[in-house]
Amino acid sequence: MSEQRAGFKAMQEGTAEDWQLISSHFRAFSQGLPDRVMTHLQLLDGDYGGFPIDRLEHSLQTATRAHRDGQDEEYVVCALLHDIGDTLGSYNHPDIAAAILKPFVSEENLWMVEKHGVFQGYYFFHHLGMDRHLRDQFKDHPLYQRTAEFCAKYDATAFDPDYASEPLSFFEPMLRRVFAKPRQSIYKAVGKDADAA
Ligand SMILES: [Fe+2]
Ligand SMILES: [Fe+2]
Repeated sequence: MSEQRAGFKAMQEGTAEDWQLISSHFRAFSQGLPDRVMTHLQLLDGDYGGFPIDRLEHSLQTATRAHRDGQDEEYVVCALLHDIGDTLGSYNHPDIAAAILKPFVSEENLWMVEKHGVFQGYYFFHHLGMDRHLRDQFKDHPLYQRTAEFCAKYDATAFDPDYASEPLSFFEPMLRRVFAKPRQSIYKAVGKDADAA
């Protein structure tokens, strides 16, 4: 039996029935987002880029340090995903993580993830002839301290080959809970019965 498909060749011709059908597929597909995020995180496995540990281990170590320091679940998931954009966002990796997390996390955590690249630069930009104080442009921002602390305590310190991080499976339930329901999205209603395209 072939899968039912919408009948239009251009969206201009779409009907409510078409979009009911597409919506039913979207609901199932969106449920699989945590699986796709897990799969993409695993792409960082074995990717060293010259660093002492690979990018998956760095992600696990950042999340483990945040968790052991008492940060809440959403923060820990942000820590886990902060570098997930390394594979496709070679020139803007924080933007990729921020885009994936945006529907599910607070403004505070979103800003922290989005800006972590500039703040992390404090620890190495000067070694590459760049300005390590680039983060100073945000010095009066209310989330400056939060983001500086994320890098100082968890991200910049997470390159230790001898650190015993929790495995990805430890964080999986947290990731699934954070990704269970979007707080904000123009397609949020599709989870119920509107359309998405
Ligand atoms: Fe990063
Ligand atoms: Fe990082």
